[in-house]
Amino acid sequence: MNTHTQRLANQTHALAAPRYTRTAIALHWLIALLIIGNVVLALSADSLPDDWVRPVINTHKSIGITVLGLALMRILWRVSHKPPPLPREFPSWEKVAAHVAHFVLYFLMIALPLSGWLHDSAWKDAATHPMRLFDLFPWPRIGYVMNLEPALKETLHDRFGALHTWLGYALYALLAMHIGGALKHEWIDRKSVLKRMVP
Ligand code: HEM
Ligand code: HEM
Repeated sequence: MNTHTQRLANQTHALAAPRYTRTAIALHWLIALLIIGNVVLALSADSLPDDWVRPVINTHKSIGITVLGLALMRILWRVSHKPPPLPREFPSWEKVAAHVAHFVLYFLMIALPLSGWLHDSAWKDAATHPMRLFDLFPWPRIGYVMNLEPALKETLHDRFGALHTWLGYALYALLAMHIGGALKHEWIDRKSVLKRMVP
C-alpha cells in the first residue's frame, strides 16, 4: 500500500470508528466506578460490625454527593456535544433501546443522589449529626425538608428512603441492559461499541 492509499485507509477507519471525547470517557468511567462502589458500600453496611456502619454510610453519602456534581458536569458536556453516532448497521430497535437506556441512566445519576440527600435531610437526627463531605468540610442538608414538622418529616423519611431503594432496583435493571448490550456488540455481533468508550 503506498502512503496515499494508507492515509485514505486511515481516514476511512477514523470515519468508520468515531469515539467519545476524552472528557466524556473520563467522566463515564469515574462515575461508573463511584456508583458501583457506592452500591457495594450501601449493601454491605448491614453486615458490617456496628462501629463501621456510621463511617461507611457517611462515606456513601459523600460519594453520592460527588456523583451528583460529576453527573451535572456530564450532562453539561452532553448537551454541548454530539455523541458519535451508533454504527449504521445496528437495527433501529437497538439504537432506540440504547438511547432510552442512556437517558434513564442520566436520570438515575441525578435522581439517586438527590433522593438519598432528601432521605437524609428528613432524618430526625440530622440536626445533631451534621453532614461532612469525606470528613473534610461541612455539607448542608436540604433546609426546607429539615425544618418540616417532625411527624411529616418522619413520613417523608420513609417515603424518600423507599424511593432511594426503588431507584437502586431500577439502576440494577438498567445496568444489566447497558452492560449486556455492550457485551453483545462485543462478542456476538463482533461490532465493538466498547472501543468508543475505552480510555
Ligand atoms: C454506573 C455505571 C454506568 C453508568 C451510569 C453508565 C452510563 C452511560 C451513559 C449515560 C452512556 C451514554 C453516553 C452518551 O452517549 O451520552 C454510556 C455509554 C457507554 N457505556 Fe456506560 N455506564 C455505566 C457503566 C458501564 C459499564 C460497566 C460498561 C462496560 C461494559 C459501560 C459501557 C458503555 C459503552 C461501551 C458506552 C458507549 C455506547 C456507545 O458507543 O454509544 N458502561 N454509559
Ligand atoms: C451514587 C449515588 C447513590 C447510589 C447509587 C445510592 C445507592 C444506595 C443503595 C443501593 C442503598 C441501599 C438501599 C436499601 O438496601 O434499602 C442506599 C442506602 C442509603 N443511601 Fe444511598 N445512594 C446514593 C447516594 C446517596 C446520597 C447522596 C445520600 C445522602 C446524602 C444517600 C443516603 C443513603 C442512606 C442514608 C442509606 C441507608 C438507607 C437506610 O437503610 O435507611 N445515598 N443507597
